[in-house]
Amino acid sequence: MSGKKERNKERREKRLQEISLLRTIPYSDDQRWWSQETVAVVTGANRGIGFEIARQLAGHGLTVILTSRNISVGIEATKALQEGGFSYDVHQLDILDGESISAFVEWIKQKYGGIDILVNNAGVNFNLGFDNSVEFARQVVDNNYYGTKNMIKAMIPVMKPSAASARIVNVSSRLGRLNGRRNDG
Ligand SMILES: NC(=O)c1ccc[n+]([C@@H]2O[C@H](COP(=O)([O-])OP(=O)(O)OC[C@H]3O[C@@H](n4cnc5c(N)ncnc54)[C@H](OP(=O)(O)O)[C@@H]3O)[C@@H](O)[C@H]2O)c1
Repeated sequence: MSGKKERNKERREKRLQEISLLRTIPYSDDQRWWSQETVAVVTGANRGIGFEIARQLAGHGLTVILTSRNISVGIEATKALQEGGFSYDVHQLDILDGESISAFVEWIKQKYGGIDILVNNAGVNFNLGFDNSVEFARQVVDNNYYGTKNMIKAMIPVMKPSAASARIVNVSSRLGRLNGRRNDG
């Protein structure tokens, strides 16, 4: 392994150790800006990273709404999470479907009045190397860019005004970074 790769690996491992250590330190009461009244919505939470984000937010005591484009799968995921002893709410949501988004926003307004946190996690990727295609690229841009943008536009009006807790978290990827890319075209 080259010196640079070796150093990068060491840096990554050190960072992972730091993160593991931070996770073991409980938050003190004055550090907790959230409570059970803090409502967090996670998109694409029926599996993968979204599922884990939902689990950890509920573990910290927030009210978590798990969303899934297939409601049956979402309900199953919610049941699996509830076995961990925390409560979750669940709703259907497809970030590419305007009607699904509108129905979700209406439900949020009626049931919760608004939300504090939006985690835009839903996304697709096709890391297929040379087997990739323009069609897959289009699906990535549709879901990961326009889908996320749809959600931000729809949810900002129902975000509760709060200096402490209102936030939108966009789960992204290093693959989406444009810096350092050459334009050979
Ligand atoms: N895993 C990685 O190494 C990695 C690295 C960098 C970034 N990310 C990003 O992290 C996020 C989660 O990744 P993951 O690995 O957990 O992916 P995953 O296991 O493929 O899960 C993606 C989730 O997004 C949902 N989804 C996709 N399109 C949707 C739509 N139109 N409406 C609603 N939900 C939709 C999927 O629903 P279905 O179950 O119905 O398909 C699934 O719940 C993605 O945004 C991804 O780009 C992941």
